[in-house]
Amino acid sequence: MKSYMQWAVALAAALPLCAAQTYTSCNPLNETCPADKGLNQWSFESNFTTGASSFDGWNFTDGKVNSTSLGAKFEIKAEGDAPTIESDFYIFFGYVEVKFRAANGTGIISTSVMESDCLDEIDWEQVSTWDNEVQTDYFGKGNTTAGGRSATLNVTDSEEEFHTYAVDWTTEKIEWILDGVVQKTVTYEEAVDGTNFPQTPMNIRIGIWAGGDPDNSIGTIEWAGGETDYSEGPFIMYLESVKIINYNPAESYTYTDKTGDYTSIKAANTTSSNSTTTSSKSTNSSSSSNSSSSSSGSSASSSSGLSSSAATGLSASFGSLVAIVGAGLLTGLLQL
Ligand SMILES: *[C@@H]1O[C@H](CO)[C@@H](O)[C@H](O)[C@H]1NC(C)=O
Ligand SMILES: *[C@@H]1O[C@H](CO)[C@@H](O)[C@H](O)[C@H]1NC(C)=O
Ligand SMILES: *[C@@H]1O[C@H](CO)[C@@H](O)[C@H](O)[C@H]1NC(C)=O
Ligand SMILES: *[C@@H]1O[C@H](CO)[C@@H](O)[C@H](O)[C@H]1NC(C)=O
Ligand SMILES: *[C@@H]1O[C@H](CO)[C@@H](O)[C@H](O)[C@H]1NC(C)=O
Ligand SMILES: *[C@@H]1O[C@H](CO)[C@@H](O)[C@H](O)[C@H]1NC(C)=O
Ligand SMILES: *[C@@H]1O[C@H](CO)[C@@H](O)[C@H](O)[C@H]1NC(C)=O
Ligand SMILES: *[C@@H]1O[C@H](CO)[C@@H](O)[C@H](O)[C@H]1NC(C)=O
Ligand SMILES: *[C@@H]1O[C@H](CO)[C@@H](O)[C@H](O)[C@H]1NC(C)=O
Ligand SMILES: *[C@@H]1O[C@H](CO)[C@@H](O)[C@H](O)[C@H]1NC(C)=O
Ligand SMILES: *[C@@H]1O[C@H](CO)[C@@H](O)[C@H](O)[C@H]1NC(C)=O
Repeated sequence: MKSYMQWAVALAAALPLCAAQTYTSCNPLNETCPADKGLNQWSFESNFTTGASSFDGWNFTDGKVNSTSLGAKFEIKAEGDAPTIESDFYIFFGYVEVKFRAANGTGIISTSVMESDCLDEIDWEQVSTWDNEVQTDYFGKGNTTAGGRSATLNVTDSEEEFHTYAVDWTTEKIEWILDGVVQKTVTYEEAVDGTNFPQTPMNIRIGIWAGGDPDNSIGTIEWAGGETDYSEGPFIMYLESVKIINYNPAESYTYTDKTGDYTSIKAANTTSSNSTTTSSKSTNSSSSSNSSSSSSGSSASSSSGLSSSAATGLSASFGSLVAIVGAGLLTGLLQL
């Protein structure tokens, strides 16, 4: 591994660790938050080659992204561009497969992030400077303490070819699956006996940003492999498709206490049709699905996309750039 330690030091100095908190508008571990809108069906697919309607279920959090014959076109033409889409729903354990061709250039980050309101996070990140590498990472409850969570995987010509980058997320483990092959696994126990294990409802955010922007901290620029020269652009990521399975489909998810433990999440108005299928793959204990059946009408699902509103709120200045930068910086921080 490269000497990331210096970068980590630089990053630690440059990046207030509370940056992680810039991308949730309400942390349920700290305060009472509205429920998360759930994906109330087993599966959801978007094929972004098929026109504008393919963005149903997604919000644009920073700039417009268009459907093209190669898929959704995420383009950086100038400083500050960081087009991002975000699912309009949350899933509670599941499978997320993203098929994209990463952007080229220097310092451009093509990323797929799963994020919860209490800052549980699961990432794929491709740094354009290294065409044949892709990084994985995860965080529990926004804990950014270095701990060897991230990994760098080999991938062939990620900026010329489409690859599928998938995450299978259950109560027992997280698997990162590249082109159908499991490349990295983290179990619940390995993640500090679950303390650092992502286990709260997540939405999905996909986009690109310039880690090599000259205005970024030196640590970030080094992590991104150098300064981005916008005159070499535009830098384009094409997102062909996204396939999502929600292992616990429901109208909404509510934190019933401040533990952030998956057994504390109440799923309301669950779709039970596939709960048996689910269990074979995901549920270790049945507590989450059990608690779900007690749907009190207490929580309206009007709160869809809480996290997006965090990003939207920041849009005035940086928008989701800040949101995604958080993830990227943290990755750099953890490359020890
Ligand atoms: C809880 O809220 C306080 C005050 O807003 C903040 O300082 C603290 O960082 C928050 N903690 C978490 C875990 O979000
Ligand atoms: C249930 O899951 C299977 C895959 O295991 C899927 O083919 C089927 O469409 C699902 N049914 C519903 C109602 O979601
Ligand atoms: C998306 O749609 C196009 C055109 O119909 C098709 O060729 C392609 O295989 C689809 N991609 C996926 C991942 O299903
Ligand atoms: C998206 O398409 C519209 C027209 O359909 C165009 O005006 C706009 O510039 C395009 N945006 C991007 C980022 O390509
Ligand atoms: C980036 O990819 C585009 C095609 O999308 C190509 O025209 C351009 O030459 C590439 N730039 C670099 C620096 O590789
Ligand atoms: C944060 O993660 C580190 C390992 O990366 C772990 O040692 C520490 O206990 C965690 N802190 C909390 C508060 O969970
Ligand atoms: C990745 O590629 C490098 C150089 O080609 C090689 O040394 C390394 O063993 C590969 N890693 C894996 C996990 O295959
Ligand atoms: C899964 O079940 C095993 C055996 O019952 C148990 O030891 C383990 O702690 C469970 N893991 C979780 C995440 O509940
Ligand atoms: C559950 O479904 C009922 C009937 O469809 C509806 O009135 C209620 O608002 C739903 N509750 C939630 C939390 O979505
Ligand atoms: C879950 O529900 C089943 C059947 O309804 C019950 O037997 C089991 O004890 C419940 N488990 C928990 C943890 O509540
Ligand atoms: C996302 O888009 C939907 C419509 O597609 C809208 O109802 C919702 O308010 C949007 N969410 C945010 C956070 O902008």
